[in-house]
Amino acid sequence: MSSKPKVLATRTLPDAVEKRLAQDYNVHLNPDDALYSSDELIELAQEADAILPCHTEHFTANVVQRLPNSVKIVANFSVGVDHCNLEEFRKRGIIVTNTPDVLSDATAEIAILLMLGAARRAGEGERMMRDGSWRDWSPSFMVGSAITGKRLGIIGMGRVGQIVAKRARGFEMEIHYCNRNRLAETNEQGAIYHDSIEDLLPVSDVLSLNCPASPETANLLSAERIARLPDGAIIVNTARGALVDESALVDALKSGKIASAGLDVYRTEPGGNPEIAALPNTFLLPHIGSANVETRDAMGFRALDNLDAYFAGREPKDRVA
Ligand code: DGY
Repeated sequence: MSSKPKVLATRTLPDAVEKRLAQDYNVHLNPDDALYSSDELIELAQEADAILPCHTEHFTANVVQRLPNSVKIVANFSVGVDHCNLEEFRKRGIIVTNTPDVLSDATAEIAILLMLGAARRAGEGERMMRDGSWRDWSPSFMVGSAITGKRLGIIGMGRVGQIVAKRARGFEMEIHYCNRNRLAETNEQGAIYHDSIEDLLPVSDVLSLNCPASPETANLLSAERIARLPDGAIIVNTARGALVDESALVDALKSGKIASAGLDVYRTEPGGNPEIAALPNTFLLPHIGSANVETRDAMGFRALDNLDAYFAGREPKDRVA
């Protein structure tokens, strides 16, 4: 029997990542990429030393309590860890890691895509071209709004938020932000700090959500806060659906208070929100912020670096619990 540590990889990983995983570990792969139920996950984890999951597996308190004692580390293939009950992991003494940094550029790219797509009605235009309903052109046809020179409000000025700001400066946007802590001046690059979300919202022609989902940020974008945005504002979310009160967003999109929304994440995933999908003034993607080859490889290698460190007796770099 192999003496290599046993790792359960819950989803199909990039080829290069699976190759390295198989070289160094006794690995259970998932070539069909089937989404395991919690019971299946717990069953498959029997005797595993480590699990390498994605945000698609929900480690609720109950699931964490039922994990076998053999599991010493959960090395996530994700930066977000809102699918993990970290408190329960701490109680069990199971280490949890994530994959920060490596997906910041990719996620920021998608934020800019959503911003442009929502502002310029790209979803409506694309659907029109596909269903053959483009019949006319006139000065009033498919008129959206510019983002060039507008004010961009960023909630969460961490790694992704700072790159979104950097890219948006290419559109001469004026950057405003709210963050737990004010950035050092060199990192602000002229961005204007607001010490409350309430202060940030009225100056956000475009609002980008870039903070993690946690009990503290759940429903952060409520009806009351949406009301503080300028009329006709655009909302972009590449972080997590749990940040947004989706019924309030639907109301605001219907009334025109919010001109349009560009969303990559939803409260219900997979699937999204049918009420949002029924609205023409939305530009929607299926949680693909990190979905490019380079980034997915880098995420896998980062998860493996964390596993390697743990099994070599070192502290994993990206430990979150
Ligand atoms: C992340 O890494 O958190 C992305 O949302 C994909 O899970």
